[in-house]
Amino acid sequence: MTPEALTGKVFILITGASQGIGRQIAITLSEIVDKNSQILLIARNENGLKETRDKLSKNINVNYASVDLGVATDEQLTEIISNVTDVDKFDRAILIQNAGSVGDVTKNTAQMNDMDYWKNYFALNVFSTAILNSVFMKLFNDNVKAKKYIINISSLMGIKPFKSMGYYGSGKAAREMYFKVFAEEFPQVNVLNYSPGPVETEMLVTVATKAGDDEVRNTINDTRIQKKSLTPEQTVNRLVNILRDQKYKSGDHVDYFDEFLKF
Ligand SMILES: NC(=O)c1ccc[n+]([C@@H]2O[C@H](COP(=O)([O-])OP(=O)(O)OC[C@H]3O[C@@H](n4cnc5c(N)ncnc54)[C@H](OP(=O)(O)O)[C@@H]3O)[C@@H](O)[C@H]2O)c1
Repeated sequence: MTPEALTGKVFILITGASQGIGRQIAITLSEIVDKNSQILLIARNENGLKETRDKLSKNINVNYASVDLGVATDEQLTEIISNVTDVDKFDRAILIQNAGSVGDVTKNTAQMNDMDYWKNYFALNVFSTAILNSVFMKLFNDNVKAKKYIINISSLMGIKPFKSMGYYGSGKAAREMYFKVFAEEFPQVNVLNYSPGPVETEMLVTVATKAGDDEVRNTINDTRIQKKSLTPEQTVNRLVNILRDQKYKSGDHVDYFDEFLKF
């Protein structure tokens, strides 16, 4: 059964869509949604975005924009979306805040002493998600008929401390709390903090090879060697099922491995 979120004419904006999980979200959702739907792909790497576009179902309208979210302003983001989208024509509008970076995983927290590094890290991983969220809410305001869904791609590392993952964990925790506050304030919006599990992407390889803490590096490495990591397709299929089942309360953190969602 198609999740209600993906029925009718759907507008979907996916950040970090040039590779990894974001690319797979675009591929999977393009195969489910109605042909009058539209997907807007955002990331920096234009070739990666084009590659994603070429993999999507041919039935839908696809646009992409090469943007560095770490520096993009409210005005720039508004223009990018407004240029390609007529917000009035959709039944649903879905914002998937997937873009992210893992940061420097070689340092422990006491070594994280560079203010500019902190600012740049948070600019992409926290501040840009808040700004894009605000742009999305302004464009798809309450005068527009589209029902809104916002999916923040979170992480277990945002709710559980892992050594060497100080930037990543604190960024994910801050980002998730922003969306929890947002969910309280906007009950008309369906908000999901989805933690995708360990997924075979460039980011996982970085942690498995570079994490400064031996235990964390070896654990992630072993997960990969023992083939316990997930494919992007597996985690996105689970995400679709979570959306379909709607067992979560808006703002909840739902993990790929959460027992009650197993099928
Ligand atoms: N893989 C895992 O095991 C795992 C586990 C838990 C959570 N996650 C989360 O899942 C999400 C996707 O990660 P992934 O594993 O697919 O990693 P990935 O392959 O490294 O993809 C990251 C995506 O974010 C985009 N991005 C990075 N910096 C950006 C910037 N400044 N502006 C715009 N886009 C930017 C990248 O595109 P460009 O480089 O083209 O800009 C890329 O498309 C992240 O939020 C990550 O924290 C991943």
